Amino acid sequence: MRSARTAAAAFMVAAVAMTAAGCADVQGDDSSLVGVAMPTTTLLRWVDDGEDVQEQLENLGYDVDLRYAENDVATQVQQVGEMIDEGADLLIVGAIDGTALKDQLARAAAADIPVVSYDRLIRDTPDIAYYATFDNLAVGTMQGHSLARAVGLEDAEGNKIEGAGPFTLELFAGSPDDNNATVFYEGAMSVLDPYISAGDLVVTSGEKDFATIATEGWDSAKSGERMAALLTEHYAGGKRPDAVLAPNDGIAISVIEAIRSHGAPAGVVVTGQDAELASVKSIVAGEQTSTIYKNTQLLAEVAVSMGHALLSGREPETNDLTSYDNGVKVVPTMLLAPQLVTQDNLERVLVESGAFTAEEIR
Ligand code: GAL
Repeated sequence: MRSARTAAAAFMVAAVAMTAAGCADVQGDDSSLVGVAMPTTTLLRWVDDGEDVQEQLENLGYDVDLRYAENDVATQVQQVGEMIDEGADLLIVGAIDGTALKDQLARAAAADIPVVSYDRLIRDTPDIAYYATFDNLAVGTMQGHSLARAVGLEDAEGNKIEGAGPFTLELFAGSPDDNNATVFYEGAMSVLDPYISAGDLVVTSGEKDFATIATEGWDSAKSGERMAALLTEHYAGGKRPDAVLAPNDGIAISVIEAIRSHGAPAGVVVTGQDAELASVKSIVAGEQTSTIYKNTQLLAEVAVSMGHALLSGREPETNDLTSYDNGVKVVPTMLLAPQLVTQDNLERVLVESGAFTAEEIR
């Protein structure tokens, strides 16, 4: 799967590298070491992120220490500490708990080690230099519009279709310690809340606030259990909601599985995110409604370019200097554009782009 992504995106990545790094042939000092801390290998997206960042850094001549912490906060804190102790010159960190790293990052700052926050914003610390991510608010609004459109409340332009509904809905959010999860939720609710207030969407369980619907650690076993409990309590007799807001693909698949086990008919609208292979196949099969494709190879490219610029005494490129306040400062950010994927555009967005081969997704 990665080979398809890698081969087809190579040209695009090279093009971004040349622009973002200023010039492609600036090599890293071969004594320079970059510590790359990634959250988990349980989702393929993070495996790809880590490998892409490593490969691109090595192509620039850096040594790389890549570690995954399997969603264990203490492990990641320790890994980052070890990277500092072994003399890393730069850290690229995809945080598990956005607030847990501040002591280690203070040590990094004292040792003049710049830190790039990768995909997820590291909070409550002045000691991050830059942030590379996708437009997380747009991810949420895309999920909200996808859901509203798929149940029949909105047309393709996002305009309300009068007289449709009401439709039943259940809501899931991501991990409370991941800053992105709140932003996805805010984006989605900015679309869904007006429909809920108007009675066009009805949250049968009444469970709507972020803390109640959050999924600790993005753990799909937990979301599957919560969906099963919601079905038992509020959808007796094999009934099911018309739609479920699922913030990522792992949660979406667990929700679909719980609905199947409940003996309810298929055809529930379920959103997602990450274009994980299982969800892409589910969309092709007409189960999951949508996902959000984030070209993580480009994200890796941006983060690597930022780090390379910092180590070369140049200023990294950014395109958002206002949105991401981490509680201590507004972090200069480079936002990439996510893309909504449904059955209608899957072929073009995921296959023609080379993210997956036609064989992989059937
Ligand atoms: C988020 C990330 C998503 C998804 C999720 C679970 O921070 O932006 O793409 O991967 O974590 O790992």
